[in-house]
Amino acid sequence: RDQELERLLQAHEWTAKLFHYLLKNTEHGKPAMEYLRARGFGDKLIDQFQIGYAPDRWDTLVQFFEKRSFDLKEMEKGGLLSSKQDGSGYVDRFRGRVMFPIMNRSGRIIAFAGRILGEGQPKYLNSPESRLFNKSRTLYNLNLAKSAIRKQGQLVLMEGFGDVIASWDAGVQHSVATMGTALTENHASLMRTLTEEVVICYDGDNAGQAAALKSIPILEEAGMRVKIALLQNGLDPDEYIKTYGAERFASQVIDGAVSTTKFRLIYVKRNYNLLEEDGKASYAQEALKVIAQLSSPTEREVYLKELSTEVGVSLESLKQDCNLMRQTLNRTRPQGQNGNRSSGNGNSRK
Ligand code: GTP
Ligand code: MN
Ligand code: MN
Ligand code: MN
Ligand code: MN
Repeated sequence: RDQELERLLQAHEWTAKLFHYLLKNTEHGKPAMEYLRARGFGDKLIDQFQIGYAPDRWDTLVQFFEKRSFDLKEMEKGGLLSSKQDGSGYVDRFRGRVMFPIMNRSGRIIAFAGRILGEGQPKYLNSPESRLFNKSRTLYNLNLAKSAIRKQGQLVLMEGFGDVIASWDAGVQHSVATMGTALTENHASLMRTLTEEVVICYDGDNAGQAAALKSIPILEEAGMRVKIALLQNGLDPDEYIKTYGAERFASQVIDGAVSTTKFRLIYVKRNYNLLEEDGKASYAQEALKVIAQLSSPTEREVYLKELSTEVGVSLESLKQDCNLMRQTLNRTRPQGQNGNRSSGNGNSRK
C-alpha cells in the first residue's frame, strides 16, 4: 500500500516537471506563457511555484506514463488521468490548462489545480480527493510560507492561488489559501500548530466578505486571534497588488487589518444610508447587536463611542440600549454557553 503512495508521489513529481518544461521550452506552452506574462508572472515566480502547462491533448500524460511503466489505473486513482467513458482506457484529466502544483506541508506534490487560459468553465479544475490529497486538510503554499508564518507570528488566509503568489511576490510571504473549498476545522487546527494569529484576506466582493464572516468562528474555536483585511472596490489581493502596489498592500491592507467587531460593523453598515435619520437609527440598532456580544465593558465602550459619533446619539443612550440588549441575550442564550465574544482576543474559550 505505501509503495502505491510513493509511486503516486513520484508520478506527481514527474508530471510537474513535465508540465513545467512544456510551459517554458515548447511551442505548445507559448499561449500559456503569454497568459502568465500578461498576469505579471515572471520567470522567478514560475520556477518558485513550479507552474506548468498541460497541453490541449488527450494523451500527453498517458504516453509519458506508458513510457515509464507507470500503472495507468493507479494514475487514474491518483487523479492524474480519467477513464474513457466506454471503459477502453485512459485519457489525461488536465488539458489546455496552466498547472499549479499543490504541495503538502513537507513540500511534496500531492495534487494539481489547472486554470483555463482566459474565460471558460470550470475556471479551475482541481485534482479529485485521493489517497494523497485531502482538500479539507490542505492549505496551498503552507510548505513555502511556514517559516515566514513562524517569524511573523501570523498567517494570512486567502481565497486563491493567484492571490497567494502575488502576495509572495509583494513580500508578504506568510499567506496560504484554501483553494475554493470552505475553511474547515482541520484547516484551522493545522494553522494553529504554527501561529496564534490569522489575518483573513479574502476577496473584497460580497462573496468574500460573507465567507469571512463564516470563517471567523471556525478560527476562533481553534483558539486563534482573528483580524480581517479590508480590500476596497471588490478587488481580490492579486488585483489590489497590481492596482496599488506591494508597499500599500503590506502596510495598509495586511498591517491595517481590523478586529472582527470592526469588520462586523462595517459589514452591517453597507446596508444603510447614514445620511438619513432612518438609516442612522436602523444602523444603530444593528450595530448595537454586534457590540452587545462583546464580553469586555471596555471594548464595548470603545465601539459605542465610535457609534455615538457616527449616528449622533449620546453615549449614555447607546449604553442603556446595549445593556438592555445584553440582558435579553443572556436570557435567550442556551445553557452551557455564555457566548461572550471578544474581538481583541480571539480566544473565546473563557
Ligand atoms: P483568477 O481569476 O485566476 O484570478 O482566480 P481567483 O483566485 O481570483 O478566483 P475566484 O476569486 O473566482 O475564486 C477563488 C478560488 O476558488 C480560486 O483560486 C480557486 O481555488 C477556487 N475556484 C474558483 N473557480 C473555481 C472553479 O471553477 N472550480 C473549482 N474547483 N475551484 C474554483
Ligand atoms: Mn524551473
Ligand atoms: Mn472570489
Ligand atoms: Mn479572486
Ligand atoms: Mn483573482
